[in-house]
Amino acid sequence: MFSSIPLVDQELLLRPFRSNDSTGLYEAVHESLQELKPWMSWATEGYTEMAAGEYISIARARWEEHTFYAFAVTRADEIVGACTLSSIHPLYRFCNLGYWVRTSQRGQGIAGRAAQLVARFAFERLGMIRVEIVIAVGNHASIRVAEKIGAHDEGILLNRMVIGKSIYDAHMYSLLPSDFDLVARL
Ligand SMILES: CC(C)(COP(=O)(O)OP(=O)(O)OC[C@H]1O[C@@H](n2cnc3c(N)ncnc32)[C@H](O)[C@@H]1OP(=O)(O)O)[C@@H](O)C(=O)NCCC(=O)NCCS
Repeated sequence: MFSSIPLVDQELLLRPFRSNDSTGLYEAVHESLQELKPWMSWATEGYTEMAAGEYISIARARWEEHTFYAFAVTRADEIVGACTLSSIHPLYRFCNLGYWVRTSQRGQGIAGRAAQLVARFAFERLGMIRVEIVIAVGNHASIRVAEKIGAHDEGILLNRMVIGKSIYDAHMYSLLPSDFDLVARL
């Protein structure tokens, strides 16, 4: 499966995290902590380069198991964010898509472009029929990303997310193969 990537558009290149990405990942997260902390449980003041390395090891192993796909979102060899596919249901063929973009690169539409590349990967390469983007109520920047890429707004799910020590209702957005001119096949 590693051979079926990278995913590219005019500017971005998405690829699996590499073992030697821990410094780059740490720096991207560290500069972004204030934006990440409200929405990502793993983003804490105690985040270290070792934590970045451990994440990369786990992500690479789970990629091989086909249970989790973590893409480094890069531009000109710099890590500008990440995009993941998680909670992959091989039987029912749907999964969750997540994203974050480093603070210095916000506001350029990177998250949406990365999300579209990864959603297409999920449909074409993994045979998914539905990709979900679940966004805590109040995360306006992420809601804008989902809206701008044309994700379907399916409403609000109650008590759908735990972030840190707080419970959130969450917006459910979806992307479907037909949004990419693809046909869902079983
Ligand atoms: C949500 C996030 C991924 C957006 O990434 P991005 O590449 O900046 O996305 P966009 O450029 O499309 O901007 C989306 C919205 O973010 C907000 N935004 C962008 N740049 C901003 C800035 N410099 N200051 C304040 N808000 C900003 C705007 O509301 C924008 O919507 P608009 O285009 O209608 O103005 C990014 O803000 C982030 O990583 N947030 C923390 C992690 C997170 O919440 N992930 C999603 C979990 S569901």
